[in-house]
Amino acid sequence: MQAKASLGLPPLAGLCGYERAARPGFSVEDNVRLMRRYNYLKGRLYEASAAFMNPTPEWELKCAFSLHLYLDADHAQTIRERVAELREPPLHLDACPDPALEALMDELLRAEDSVERLAGIFGVLRPALRAAFQAHLDRNNPLFDHPTCRMLRILRDEEDEMLGWGAEALAALAKDEAARARAEAFQAHLAAYLKTAGGVSGEDERLPAGELPPKRAAAPFVPDTMPQRDARSREVYNFNYRPNNIYMDEAADLDERNLALMFKRFHEIDVPEMMSSIVLQTQGKPWKYYRDMGRQIWDEARHAMMGEVWFVKRGVDWSKYPNHVGWSMHLNLEREPIERHIILYYIEQSLMDGRTGKKKEWKIAQAAGDDLTTYFQDYDWADEVLHAQIGRRWLKPEVGGTAKLMERGREIAQRPTHTIDERAKTTPQVDWWPAFVRDVLGKESTSNAGMEDRLTPDFDRSKALASG
Ligand SMILES: [Fe+2]
Ligand SMILES: [Fe+2]
Repeated sequence: MQAKASLGLPPLAGLCGYERAARPGFSVEDNVRLMRRYNYLKGRLYEASAAFMNPTPEWELKCAFSLHLYLDADHAQTIRERVAELREPPLHLDACPDPALEALMDELLRAEDSVERLAGIFGVLRPALRAAFQAHLDRNNPLFDHPTCRMLRILRDEEDEMLGWGAEALAALAKDEAARARAEAFQAHLAAYLKTAGGVSGEDERLPAGELPPKRAAAPFVPDTMPQRDARSREVYNFNYRPNNIYMDEAADLDERNLALMFKRFHEIDVPEMMSSIVLQTQGKPWKYYRDMGRQIWDEARHAMMGEVWFVKRGVDWSKYPNHVGWSMHLNLEREPIERHIILYYIEQSLMDGRTGKKKEWKIAQAAGDDLTTYFQDYDWADEVLHAQIGRRWLKPEVGGTAKLMERGREIAQRPTHTIDERAKTTPQVDWWPAFVRDVLGKESTSNAGMEDRLTPDFDRSKALASG
């Protein structure tokens, strides 16, 4: 097609030629129908990452699930906003658009171990979503439905990034024949359920439901929120943990206080573990709540990776020292979801105190003359300001303002922690810190902080074990 009134300038804002622009894409109705399916799958993938966070032991999987959970939450938010622009009341977006998709995602939740989890997500769900986004883009009109196309390109590209990681991770875990066979069997199982739904779009030929393999999801799903770790976290029930006190010990060497900060960051993998149990067990909130919480889960995983990166850069073998699960374990198992969230807010709001909190941590890193930890603490501080806002945004309407929240937090933090007391009996409570300092810094520890606290009767365990 040639435009007669041409000045030789590229037309149509450079998005496509006239021929492509003159081809109708999806109608508003068809677009909305497809986007409701994407939104549903994104929401359920978010749920799957949250459900897998605790029972999945591998460190790298927890980190990646945290990112993917955030991306899925954000994708769902974007889809919802686009649908709302297309004459569709957004409320419909919380309903399931197809019972066959529901059955598919219920099966994914029943993945039994890391290999099946990766096989299901990266062998079936994400490739299908990626292909659906591409097919949608190929058929849609790039000019007249530019907002949808732009959104789909972002979703497709981020799906590609996730798939790249997933393929490598699955190859690393499914090394032997037996593991590969299990991965393939679970993929075939889920692929059949996807086929019964007519694929992501619902437009493919549907496999009759009668031909489906027997479902695993026979009973209601019960989340497993007991945090599991791989062997590199060592004695996860050794709760002798001093970095929280050492970084504040004015009498200690600055290098050692700086090192304590990095162990504190590293330790924060327990926050995604704890927060995923909150979102998993909190129903019926606006999607923005899940998106905010997803963003915070991802921030906390990045805080843990600050420690990891610092250790790797310094040649520290972090698998030689215990990284306990006391905080996420006792909160997940012994506190209600809303109480867990209040505790998180209580800790993060406390960190806003410039004398003891995030600003102080940044100053300690600066004083220690470590550019990398100073950089990390700078962003850690910025993130925590955001987290205190997120906590206030969602807790205030339900619980009350800052004073009320802090009062509730203090009360919850002082309750007994039975799971910690019980598990502590199963593992020697060894003080590993001096050996760690010797190993990393090549000198003796100069801090006595952190030993006396555990012996005092009103020991505020939640705070002493705190992450954030
Ligand atoms: Fe954090
Ligand atoms: Fe935080």
